[in-house]
Amino acid sequence: MTDKVVLAYSGGLDTSVAIKWLREKYRVDIIAVTIDVGNEKDFAAIRQKALKVGAVKARVIDGKDLFVKYFIFPALQANALYEGQYPLATALSRPLMAKLLVDTALAEGAVAIAHGCTGKGNDQVRFEVGINALAPRMKIIAPAREWGMTREETITYARKHHIPVPVTVTSPYSIDENLWGRSIECGALEDPWAEPPADAYTLTRAPAKAPDRPHYLEIGFEKGIPVTLDKKEVDGISLIKKLNEIAGRHGIGRIDHIENRVVGIKSREIYEAPAAVVLIQAHQALEAMTLSRDQLRFKQKVAIEYADLIYNGLWFSQLNRDLSAYILSSQRYVSGTVRLKLFKGQATVVGRKAPYSLYNLSLATYDEGDTFNQKAAEGFIHLWGLPLKTQAQVQLLGDKEGPLNIMGPAGEEEK
Ligand code: ARG
Repeated sequence: MTDKVVLAYSGGLDTSVAIKWLREKYRVDIIAVTIDVGNEKDFAAIRQKALKVGAVKARVIDGKDLFVKYFIFPALQANALYEGQYPLATALSRPLMAKLLVDTALAEGAVAIAHGCTGKGNDQVRFEVGINALAPRMKIIAPAREWGMTREETITYARKHHIPVPVTVTSPYSIDENLWGRSIECGALEDPWAEPPADAYTLTRAPAKAPDRPHYLEIGFEKGIPVTLDKKEVDGISLIKKLNEIAGRHGIGRIDHIENRVVGIKSREIYEAPAAVVLIQAHQALEAMTLSRDQLRFKQKVAIEYADLIYNGLWFSQLNRDLSAYILSSQRYVSGTVRLKLFKGQATVVGRKAPYSLYNLSLATYDEGDTFNQKAAEGFIHLWGLPLKTQAQVQLLGDKEGPLNIMGPAGEEEK
């Protein structure tokens, strides 16, 4: 019996060529698996293409619900942004794909899983580390890393084997897209000095061409999960799609990032993530109302670790469980509503309310109804500043030359 290999199939040039190439090189049967993470593709056509190019079976798996529930929303609850900028759309989808590929491979009795990633990117790391964690004995094949063909040679190979070459092959960009955002690299974007050409963007309008009137919207959260839009209940997938459309129209969610890849290279990546940007901003605004200062500070540190872990392909780790447990626990009182104004490329939080809000008007107000005991501030300041005062008397002002060092090291040079 011929061995079976499960191939992560996107329908693009590389993975189509991989079907043929794997059959020729390894004499295996290919089961193509395409995972729908909300990338608005014609999945029926992709499936047909896989079969036409030579896969013995082709499956399309709808991963949208799982993606939102287990990947996107936890990342939102964490406010996960890699290096403070990238909402991690591509990175979050890979462990889900790894899991569904492994499930399929085990169910089909396949000996290996293949993917179309090259040897320079992060995605090969995420796929393979994920697969290794879930099925340590599964073999992995990365044809695009093995075949040593240039782009041109891949196209020639495709033509020779009657593999349809998609029109997008002429696109100068490499693109990955799902519900949480769109990643664009290559072409003109490789020059970090060059402004991204207008055609790099498809989800967002140029802010200058956005509507002249602002759009206001209200997002309701329940324990850190967005559940309503403008007071109407909405499921996660619909909410994200709607926000991508509305915020995209207002030019929101463009990100230009020089990022540090796992494999040690710096790369320039453009992202479009209208829904992610708006939701993270709204979620942070609600946390500002409902979490204490100490919780907020600690949670920022957790978010950095969590974003790194996702980016670095370590989703299926015990550290993820530990951090996720903290993140989930932190959301107990993060419920309420945030009001935002979308206008010319900018989302601005203009209102927030929460049943468990820690904002207390009678403490904050400068008007009538003030309950804050201003007298108590005196004693507080005395004790709060005591260590500093003590130290300054000995080490700063104790200097026989007098109080010269108050400007710090730069001031010192002028002595
Ligand atoms: N740099 C991003 C990441 O590592 C996106 C990678 C995929 N991008 C692409 N244009 N194919 O998650």
